[in-house]
Amino acid sequence: MRILVIGANGDIGGAVCSELSTHHEIIKVGRSSSDIHADVTDRASIEAMYREAGKVDAVVCATGAVHFGPATEFSEEQFMIGLTDKVMGQVNVVLAGFDNVTDGGSFTLTSGVLDRDPVRMGAGAAMANGAIGGFIVGAAIGMPRGQRINVVSPGLLEVSADKYGAWFPGHNPVSSQRVGRAYAKSVEGAITGQVIIVE
Ligand SMILES: NC(=O)c1ccc[n+]([C@@H]2O[C@H](COP(=O)([O-])OP(=O)(O)OC[C@H]3O[C@@H](n4cnc5c(N)ncnc54)[C@H](OP(=O)(O)O)[C@@H]3O)[C@@H](O)[C@H]2O)c1
Repeated sequence: MRILVIGANGDIGGAVCSELSTHHEIIKVGRSSSDIHADVTDRASIEAMYREAGKVDAVVCATGAVHFGPATEFSEEQFMIGLTDKVMGQVNVVLAGFDNVTDGGSFTLTSGVLDRDPVRMGAGAAMANGAIGGFIVGAAIGMPRGQRINVVSPGLLEVSADKYGAWFPGHNPVSSQRVGRAYAKSVEGAITGQVIIVE
């Protein structure tokens, strides 16, 4: 398969590329230092990315900024960071991509653990994760030409624990290998409309 991996140089994107690059052609996308440069918060940039990539069999998106802070101090603008970047960035990757994905191809988005196992600073992330989970369930029944859509919802990755571990007391970090396999389940398997949990 030809697989577009957006966020390929990140902690999750790296896990996805390690798992899938042994037996598929990977086209890496990021805002910098990738095969294709694109910003998924900008619809015109997403459309240019698809023009450059051409037809692909699968799209994986592993991007998304959210604000972390105490729930009582969150402003509307801080909630909007997660909604515009993590949610609508990934949703627009799907909306702009139907024609560039082959018949029976797939989209795999990324959410995370915080809408089912919350932490103190994570209300913005939890809201964004829940919205993505809702989107893929609703979109799956209307996908064109046999296309599928799923979201992978990993716990904190072992490779990310140094950066974020202090916010996740008591969480068991997950290996990059298991996270990569969850994306393989979506890309290579047959499921659709599923939240694939890794914890
Ligand atoms: N790491 C974890 O433990 C973990 C666990 C569960 C869920 N998640 C979720 O997974 C997603 C990725 O997390 P991560 O830790 O892998 O992040 P990361 O290490 O910071 O990597 C993010 C990658 O996405 C690219 N990117 C960021 N914003 C972009 C944009 N607007 N357009 C195009 N590319 C963009 C970056 O490329 P450039 O550097 O070139 O901009 C980078 O390669 C986030 O939504 C996060 O909430 C992470």
